[in-house]
Amino acid sequence: MMDWTDRHCRFLHRLYAPHALLYTEMIVAAAIVRGDVRQLLDHDAGEHPVALQLGGCDPAELAKAARIGTSAGYAEINLNVGCPSDRVKNGSFGACLMLKPKLVADCVRAMRDVTHLPVTVKCRIGIDARDDYEFFQGFADIVVPAGIDALIVHARAAILAGLSPKQNREIPPLKYAYVHRLKQERPELTVVLNGGLCDGAAAAAHLSDGLDGVMLGRAAYHQPALLAELERRVIDPDWQIPEPWQIVERMIPYAKACAQRGMRLHSITRHMHGVMAGREGARAWRRFLSEVAARPDAAPETLFSALPMVKQGLAA
Ligand SMILES: Cc1cc2nc3c(=O)[nH]c(=O)nc-3n(C[C@H](O)[C@H](O)[C@H](O)COP(=O)(O)O)c2cc1C
Repeated sequence: MMDWTDRHCRFLHRLYAPHALLYTEMIVAAAIVRGDVRQLLDHDAGEHPVALQLGGCDPAELAKAARIGTSAGYAEINLNVGCPSDRVKNGSFGACLMLKPKLVADCVRAMRDVTHLPVTVKCRIGIDARDDYEFFQGFADIVVPAGIDALIVHARAAILAGLSPKQNREIPPLKYAYVHRLKQERPELTVVLNGGLCDGAAAAAHLSDGLDGVMLGRAAYHQPALLAELERRVIDPDWQIPEPWQIVERMIPYAKACAQRGMRLHSITRHMHGVMAGREGARAWRRFLSEVAARPDAAPETLFSALPMVKQGLAA
């Protein structure tokens, strides 16, 4: 999720869910092809497996970026066909590609030609006034035969005129039934549902009802323990949901290693506000993160001082 997630966030989330497939935020293909690849794509082996999400609409450029992403060690190449922001719309990619399924298919084929990795698409169910099932089905009819390995569907339409990106994640109604119907009509296609999932049991129920996967965005960010709950429900019944203090203890050596490479503690701890979500002491923990750990000179060892608070869940 652009501006929210990054490599540090993925390292944190991996501690909760060893088997979840984590995704990068959208990275524009042109930036990978022409920019600082190291800065854009570097990540820690502990984050694996991670899918690289690309933004773009030029098949040749996406192919170059997919090749670079493959060499960089990612596990999947995903094309963003869902972002509604003005900047992305002006670049003619993201959600507006819902109107150009043939171009999406060309992009998929170009990427498939250069990588052995799975190539997937993350899309919406529709765009602007076109939020009828037939539109969504028509998009799939053209994109799926290009050879996608999975379709990840944010189950609401994108409204490009008049709604901000935030509103576009809240106002257009969720239509989970479209995603289930697509799966029923195309049992051979791997279909993943996204949008509004914030309860482990409800998310897992979509899998029992036939879908191949669920993707969580905001809820996972604010409440990362949800990822551990899903790991236990869906993959490993013996998985112990990590306690907040265990997470903090495991983040300290990581933060130390990052500090040695010049990274500020805050760049890591800014993702840790949800570690105590729903627990007594959550507010004190968040205050510690914003008042102490966010100082420019804060050292990773600072986190040790918060451990008693995290262990006891006591308000500091
Ligand atoms: C701050 C923010 C940034 C986002 N950036 C991306 C992105 O880079 N790529 C993407 O596919 N979706 C992005 N999304 C959308 C989410 O991936 C997801 O589709 C959407 O929030 C609905 O799922 P949720 O209800 O589980 O959050 C972003 C969402 C937020 C809140």
